[in-house]
Amino acid sequence: MLIAQPGRMGPLALRNRIIMGPMGTNYGTCDGFSTERDKLYYAERAFGGAAMVITEAMVVSPNARNHRNSLCIHHDRFIPGLAAVVEAIHAGGALAVAQLNHRGGLLRRSVLGMEPVGPSDGTNPNTGEPVRGLSAPEIRAIQVEFLEAARRARDAGYDAVELHAANGYLFQQFFTARINRRSDAYGGTLDNRMRLLLETVALIRAALPELPLMVRISATEYVEGGYSEAEAVALAQALEGAGVIAIDLSGGSNESPALSRYCIQPPSFPRRFLEPYARPITAALGIPVIMAGRIIDPEDAEAVLQAGSAQYVAVCRALVADAYWTRKAFGEIATPIRKCISCNVCFERLTLEQDVACVANPLVGTEFERPEFAEPQLADPLPAAQRRRMLVLGAGVAGVEAARVAAARGHEVEIWERAERPGGQLPLAVAGPDKADVGGIWSYRWAQVEALGVPVRLGTEATAERIRRFAPDIAILATGSRARRLPMLDASPVPVLHAWEAILDPGRIPRGAAVTVIGGGLVGLETADLLVASRGCRVTIVEGLPTLAAGMARNNRFDLLERLERAGMQGLTDTLVEGFEAGRLVLRSGERRWTMEPGEAIVHAVGPVPNRDAVPALEAAEIPYVLVGDCNRPGDFLDGIRDAWMAALAIERRPKLRAAADAVLSGPVP
Ligand SMILES: Cc1cc2nc3c(=O)[nH]c(=O)nc-3n(C[C@H](O)[C@H](O)[C@H](O)COP(=O)(O)OP(=O)(O)OC[C@H]3O[C@@H](n4cnc5c(N)ncnc54)[C@H](O)[C@@H]3O)c2cc1C
Ligand SMILES: Cc1cc2nc3c(=O)[nH]c(=O)nc-3n(C[C@H](O)[C@H](O)[C@H](O)COP(=O)(O)O)c2cc1C
Ligand code: SF4
Repeated sequence: MLIAQPGRMGPLALRNRIIMGPMGTNYGTCDGFSTERDKLYYAERAFGGAAMVITEAMVVSPNARNHRNSLCIHHDRFIPGLAAVVEAIHAGGALAVAQLNHRGGLLRRSVLGMEPVGPSDGTNPNTGEPVRGLSAPEIRAIQVEFLEAARRARDAGYDAVELHAANGYLFQQFFTARINRRSDAYGGTLDNRMRLLLETVALIRAALPELPLMVRISATEYVEGGYSEAEAVALAQALEGAGVIAIDLSGGSNESPALSRYCIQPPSFPRRFLEPYARPITAALGIPVIMAGRIIDPEDAEAVLQAGSAQYVAVCRALVADAYWTRKAFGEIATPIRKCISCNVCFERLTLEQDVACVANPLVGTEFERPEFAEPQLADPLPAAQRRRMLVLGAGVAGVEAARVAAARGHEVEIWERAERPGGQLPLAVAGPDKADVGGIWSYRWAQVEALGVPVRLGTEATAERIRRFAPDIAILATGSRARRLPMLDASPVPVLHAWEAILDPGRIPRGAAVTVIGGGLVGLETADLLVASRGCRVTIVEGLPTLAAGMARNNRFDLLERLERAGMQGLTDTLVEGFEAGRLVLRSGERRWTMEPGEAIVHAVGPVPNRDAVPALEAAEIPYVLVGDCNRPGDFLDGIRDAWMAALAIERRPKLRAAADAVLSGPVP
């Protein structure tokens, strides 16, 4: 395997070719200090086998905070905390690289009052706020801030520094003629547009010649008017000439969801999608190139190196989803990789100024993110006194996660599933045109439940009598949700299907039919997408909220909406369905009321309701129970998997039912 081969990058020796790419976490404090949480998060990925960990974009200036809880490096007071992060990364056997960033025109006033500044006056495309063009002295001051930040990174023990000149931030804003309209030495010609970055590199190289320096650039902007391939190659060559030890390639710009898709890709993008843009840059350089972008499986990484498209791969989200990805890829940990599904919930949370969480990995950012909790079967078995007998009702993702964790810890677990097949809503969630990768959420868990030998009793009705006979210490209720009934649709003159029915059997809707989808959340939109792709339907979506798919990660949402709009989708937002009049749908938006042809079929996708129909049986059997997943609150994999994992981890702290009863019976009689 090429990915397992050691490599050299300037003076640095890397134990293999896997690099953890930089990713914001929002795990720092609001005043910019690193925390125990950061330290553990990065350390675990070093311990997980990556050769190099590039920590998140750090803030070089008090006037340029990325996120509320980004790590800062604009003052010496941050050095001791960062030194602890570096020490932890080193203890895991990886090199530590500090990424330094200035967001420029993408600064936001909503984040601690930051003023957007850039090469020229303009507008922050994310927020609409004015961007103020920087004066020459201000440019110099920022360059010095980068130098000071690099010095602090060195003092904290970092092995190298990476300047963030990708993804639409300050350096890229100066480089791209799309945004840079200056007429001084920092604008106009290619040389002038490269000047800010090259001068900063030169400043750091001159002052800190022993500190290895890398630069991250977007190989392409993926937008009309963006810089050309020749310009990107020229920039990379100039950086090599200036003494940087490696070029780290990303793509796109975080200035809008449309362009951010090329930086942090949704699942409709091919694996290794940056390769065509990486190749000419790699071919033009004598220094190593690192390439990121939808490298999900070890096979993807290996193929990049085999093709010679880069010398190293940056594995980013896949290492959030599984800190031990590298060691698993090398066969050092014998459990399957917990795959990233490119859902972008992690990035969405960051954008919403929340801490990063992962749909695939409930442990990320917790002190439990160690192999013995992530893959509990690798830990020492629990003492007998702590083992419990657990009944899981429902073999959807949540039930299977609870069973996986509990069984792997040594508890005695059975799953009872009412249906004749396991999986719950999973077949619905993977049915959309670009959702095959979501299957990883299931396959990882199901493979382990099978390997652990957990009995799964399909077609089993949980009666009180049966539950009593099984005599569990605790039950996990993971019985999911069910479609909501909408009686107002009973008068429909055309067939009405629930979204779940339409997804499982799209053939029930005539080819090319006009379909009204009621409910424009993720499920409604994905159903529409499927009907467009598989039946050539023309869809109108009616949604009561002001936006379609409001809760979806923005890059993925943009991708889906763009596809639907191309297919002629009509979206009616802020619009409620009131029923039927003379065979026509009655709609209302504020004071406005009107009617509309329903088309040839109606699909409704209005949020499901929790299914708790096993509760009476559990209560009659007097078994304590915990609700996890959709039956607790209809939601998503993130909530369901987290609930389930936490519930499973807590059960050893619950009393054994029979032991507790015995203790009561043998205690002193009041
Ligand atoms: C079209 C669609 C797309 C989606 N896409 C995404 C996505 O991209 N990302 C995301 O995070 N979420 C997505 N979701 C939501 C996600 O699928 C659900 O939140 C998740 O599957 C719920 O898992 P669960 O285990 O709680 O319930 P379920 O998957 O509903 O499983 C419950 C199980 O319990 C069984 N059961 C019911 N009653 C009993 C009983 N009395 N005894 C025993 N068994 C019983 C059921 O048969 C079922 O197998 C999507 C949902 C849909 C419909
Ligand atoms: C939550 C999150 C935060 C990110 N933060 C940064 C960052 O701070 N600096 C950076 O250069 N790229 C950042 N990225 C982009 C990643 O480094 C990477 O280029 C991108 O996720 C594509 O690679 P992947 O498919 O392996 O995840 C971030 C991505 C995510 C998902
Ligand atoms: S939240 Fe989604 S995209 Fe992000 S790492 Fe986890 S699975 Fe991947």
